[in-house]
Amino acid sequence: MKGYRFRSWHFRFWHWGVVVTLLIAVSATYNLELSDRALFISGEPSHGHHQIEMACSSCHGDGFSGADGMQRACLGCHAEELEMADDSHPRAKFLDPRNAALLGKLDARQCVTCHVEHKPEITRDMGVTLAGDFCFHCHSDIAEDRGSHSGFAFDSCASAGCHNFHDNRNLYEDFLVAHAGQPQILPDAQLPERTAMQAWLREHPQRKTLRAADADIAAASAEIAAAWAGGPHARVDVNCSGCHTGGQMQFSAAEIAAQCGNCHREQRRAFTRGKHGMRLSPKLPAGFVERVGAMSPQQALLPMHESATGELSCTSCHEPHETDLQFAAVEACLGCHSDGHSLAFRESAHFRQWNAGAADGVSCAGCHLPRERRGGRVLVNHNQNHNLRPNEKMLPVCLNCHGAEFALSALADEALIADNFNRAPTGSHETFDLIRKRIAHISDNKKSR
Ligand code: HEC
Ligand code: HEC
Ligand code: HEC
Ligand code: HEC
Ligand code: HEC
Ligand code: HEC
Ligand code: HEC
Ligand code: HEC
Ligand code: HEC
Ligand code: HEC
Repeated sequence: MKGYRFRSWHFRFWHWGVVVTLLIAVSATYNLELSDRALFISGEPSHGHHQIEMACSSCHGDGFSGADGMQRACLGCHAEELEMADDSHPRAKFLDPRNAALLGKLDARQCVTCHVEHKPEITRDMGVTLAGDFCFHCHSDIAEDRGSHSGFAFDSCASAGCHNFHDNRNLYEDFLVAHAGQPQILPDAQLPERTAMQAWLREHPQRKTLRAADADIAAASAEIAAAWAGGPHARVDVNCSGCHTGGQMQFSAAEIAAQCGNCHREQRRAFTRGKHGMRLSPKLPAGFVERVGAMSPQQALLPMHESATGELSCTSCHEPHETDLQFAAVEACLGCHSDGHSLAFRESAHFRQWNAGAADGVSCAGCHLPRERRGGRVLVNHNQNHNLRPNEKMLPVCLNCHGAEFALSALADEALIADNFNRAPTGSHETFDLIRKRIAHISDNKKSR
């Protein structure tokens, strides 16, 4: 009797196993082929990828292409950024036989060693999924090598203003020594002037400014024609049909980015690499945007105004007919963003100066869409994530106007960021305490020589 019951239980267990397997198989097929594919994810993706989590194949390739495929996918979207950051730990560093042994402790050649996906319970800032003290695995002898570092905890190596894993451009000792002792505000505090418009005018000296009467769409409302005639495009001989090609009047977010991008390629490229435009990235599988739409404020993890609607594209900030850059730089942002930092901005000295039209004023865009020098040009970088994290990446912006210690101390002060820099940072920065010792040491050496 007993044996029979056991067998019956066993049978039922086996039976249910088949049913469950079948259910999984059916739902798997359904999810992969037909629905939103959400059932496959064992946890939420990192903050950085939440907008593209449903584009499984952008990371996994077709039919889950293994570790190499995954690495290629990460590099496909991030390699250029890491190269520009002069990555401190590139794969090449570990080809050096002296360093190769370290890989036994931690395979730093693979992105997924430190950035796994779908594991919210272990995902820290910037998508890092290792414990905070992992530098120890390879730099355990730092305290012996550098007396100044004894007593520092390993989970403090990568805190603001000390070191980063990838990007140490603004944290090298030589860089900091060169920028030590500067005043809080530099004498000639201002951002560089943008150059694109002047460059165009220089290259096209004979082109005339178009007037409202030149509008080549007959049904032009007087209002739109006037806005356009007062804006930059009439100045540079871009008529209505330059954007309304073939007379098209209604555009999706993707069509707008494509249309503006025809003439503004660099802006479109940068825009599709940050959180505003990443859903429009050409790296995503075909058909993805059509399925999920471009990003909208309602889908954001960050706080947004309830009244903010629509899909993100160029026209979220640039009204297409007048493209008022003052509006784009603050008002547009505050039409969507409603976190404490954004809302505090109007209380800051930066805003007061900017609003008064002073050269040393700073807008949201001044920090987040930084004007960057490239060759002889100064261009607006439309990837607002490019200099966001780790926040020392923003230092070059501050250095237009502030001394390095003041700026680095401000960036290391989280409460001050939350209040959008409405007061001076408290105390000096530990890094600069070390730098001052270092400078004293260098000048002692010079004297004794
Ligand atoms: C931004 C890149 C990215 C996207 C998009 C992505 N994954 Fe992943 N996925 C990963 C990484 C990284 C891992 C961890 C790989 C490792 O540990 O080797 C992973 C692991 C997995 C695993 C293994 C089990 C686990 O949880 O560790 C499954 C299954 C999976 N992903 C399914 C999906 C599905 C289905 C989608 C689409 C809904 C998706 N992934 C979208 C990057 C991604
Ligand atoms: C289709 C392009 C794409 C692919 C593929 C992709 N990423 Fe990303 N990733 C992005 C974008 C866009 C962001 C958001 C903007 C940013 O933070 O730079 C992002 C954000 C991140 C962040 C977080 C940055 C932060 O500040 O929070 C990390 C880390 C990261 N990606 C690593 C990876 C790794 C590792 C892989 C491979 C498993 C990968 N990415 C695959 C486009 C991609
Ligand atoms: C040994 C661990 C480790 C490996 C391997 C690693 N990262 Fe990171 N990554 C980090 C840490 C730690 C941070 C946090 C910021 C910092 O300290 O630089 C980070 C930050 C990032 C960021 C956001 C900030 C930034 O600097 O842009 C991106 C994007 C990123 N990693 C992409 C990648 C990609 C792509 C790979 C593979 C080529 C990779 N990481 C390999 C540890 C790692
Ligand atoms: C898998 C091993 C490994 C891990 C983990 C690791 N490093 Fe490194 N790191 C190296 C190697 C190898 C070098 C090169 C040393 C050399 O050239 O003498 C290096 C160099 C550096 C440098 C000098 C950079 C340069 O470009 O000259 C800094 C700063 C640094 N690491 C910081 C960190 C921090 C911070 C962490 C933790 C967030 C970390 N490292 C984790 C292996 C590692
Ligand atoms: C720089 C590109 C550009 C130029 C030049 C341009 N438009 Fe537009 N226009 C757009 C875009 C983009 C939209 C769609 C806006 C949206 O959906 O957010 C639009 C929308 C419109 C609309 C319908 C929506 C509305 O705002 O009422 C009309 C009508 C219009 N444009 C007329 C004109 C006329 C007339 C001209 C020339 C005097 C002109 N446009 C020049 C880009 C442009
Ligand atoms: C047919 C080409 C063309 C198209 C399409 C076009 N633009 Fe332009 N735009 C220009 C030129 C040329 C300039 C002047 C040089 C520059 O700033 O790059 C310009 C300048 C600008 C400026 C800078 C204005 C200033 O004051 O410096 C903005 C902003 C702008 N365009 C936004 C847009 C947006 C948004 C769209 C799409 C709705 C768009 N453009 C479509 C050609 C175009
Ligand atoms: C988040 C708001 C925002 C979005 C979205 C946006 N822009 Fe801009 N854009 C700005 C601001 C603000 C400036 C002026 C910044 C400054 O003066 O430093 C600007 C400047 C420009 C300029 C002048 C560039 C230069 O270097 O002088 C062009 C051209 C431009 N935008 C085109 C575009 C195009 C094309 C898109 C879509 C692919 C786009 N913008 C999306 C806010 C935005
Ligand atoms: C149409 C609404 C809208 C406008 C206008 C807008 N944003 Fe955003 N912003 C968003 C959304 C949505 C995200 C993505 C949030 C998410 O993925 O959770 C975002 C992301 C960001 C991020 C990245 C945050 C992070 O944690 O990675 C920054 C920085 C940012 N915006 C700054 C600005 C600035 C500066 C302006 C004005 C020049 C601006 N935004 C204009 C909606 C907007
Ligand atoms: C003086 C420079 C500066 C100005 C001006 C500024 N920000 Fe920021 N912003 C920062 C820094 C630094 C961070 C923090 C980056 C980090 O560590 O995550 C930040 C973070 C953010 C974030 C991401 C918040 C999060 O929780 O992920 C958003 C969104 C943002 N800013 C929007 C704005 C808007 C909108 C304005 C104008 C109303 C603005 N910022 C003005 C420097 C600035
Ligand atoms: C275009 C010039 C400019 C840029 C760029 C700039 N600032 Fe400022 N900042 C100023 C001016 C001007 C003041 C007001 C100084 C005063 O009132 O004494 C100020 C004030 C401050 C204050 C408040 C000081 C106080 O005593 O109230 C902090 C903190 C600050 N800035 C940090 C930063 C950081 C961090 C960055 C870079 C992310 C930055 N600033 C970028 C010009 C700039």
